Amino acid sequence: MGFQIETGTTVEVLTDVSFRVFPSEIFALVGESGCGKSVTCLALTRLLPSPPARHLGGAVRVGGRDVYRLGPGELRKVRGHGVAYVFQEPATALNPVRRIGPQIAEAVRLHSRRGDPVASRVTELLHAVGIPEPERCARAFPHQLSGGMKQRVALAMALAMKPGILVADEPTTALDVTVQAQILELLRNIRDRSGMAIILVTHDLGIVSETADRVAVMYAGRIVEIAPVDALFRGPRHPYTRALLEAVPRLDTPLSAGLTTIPGRVPTPREYGAGCRFANRCPVAKPTCSKVVPQLKEVVAGHASACLATEGA
Ligand SMILES: Nc1ncnc2c1ncn2[C@@H]1O[C@H](COP(=O)(O)OP(=O)(O)OP(=O)(O)O)[C@@H](O)[C@H]1O
Ligand SMILES: [Mg+2]
Repeated sequence: MGFQIETGTTVEVLTDVSFRVFPSEIFALVGESGCGKSVTCLALTRLLPSPPARHLGGAVRVGGRDVYRLGPGELRKVRGHGVAYVFQEPATALNPVRRIGPQIAEAVRLHSRRGDPVASRVTELLHAVGIPEPERCARAFPHQLSGGMKQRVALAMALAMKPGILVADEPTTALDVTVQAQILELLRNIRDRSGMAIILVTHDLGIVSETADRVAVMYAGRIVEIAPVDALFRGPRHPYTRALLEAVPRLDTPLSAGLTTIPGRVPTPREYGAGCRFANRCPVAKPTCSKVVPQLKEVVAGHASACLATEGA
């Protein structure tokens, strides 16, 4: 995926990003700010405004069909039924001057057959996302709800589409920890009940360990490690993943011992060099690392890492 930044100049933002997501799984995308998580999610259904965004190659298959080769009508179907989104700020999904009920009803109507009962489906959806008094909530305006409730409503609207894949981009970052835990539990429930696949974007490894089944670690527009969650936490292979894990506060280590932070910062796409993009921050980098692009290689079945320095380690 590239962005045109000036006439004739393109910066490549995502490189060789490739993953599969299966029904009933929660697949996490994790990495520091600016590493390409949101661009990846938006690229899935061609939601990046183009220009400046440009698809440089590769396929996104939803139900076997390449999203980048679909005509407008079929693309609308993918956006309508295939892939639904919830974002960090639930207010973006809601019209501030309309009551909740009619907003969800509209989403329901778009995705049901004529004659289907809409009102009962709205109540059912609000109930499904754990809203205690669905009828009362349906009469409320968005500003009358707490942040957590608004995120539940945004989820209800996404579920109205009966999507095969739900993309949740930092859905709990704006919420306090208690509410955050409730929303994550709700996502797990939704997955259990519906068999939907969920792509969960977060920069929080704690959330990954508690919520996800598999995880892809992104760095500077590439996936550097991909693994089942247990395997990643038990045996992280990539130095970037290891550094991220060392930067997580732990209850068994006194804070006075200090948190390890990763020196430096994520390069912007204009700064991507040849070779491994993490090389200049990497504690184990070898001279070849800044010259040769490391490929994702399976270290054990289902667990792949892209690092020359730790290959075979
Ligand atoms: N419209 C755009 N034009 C140019 N560059 C962009 C555009 N949108 C995103 N980028 C760049 O693409 C890179 C990836 O951005 P992205 O928003 O996907 O990061 P992220 O991993 O979601 O970060 P965060 O955790 O902060 O949400 C960044 O370097 C960003 O500056
Ligand atoms: Mg983002």
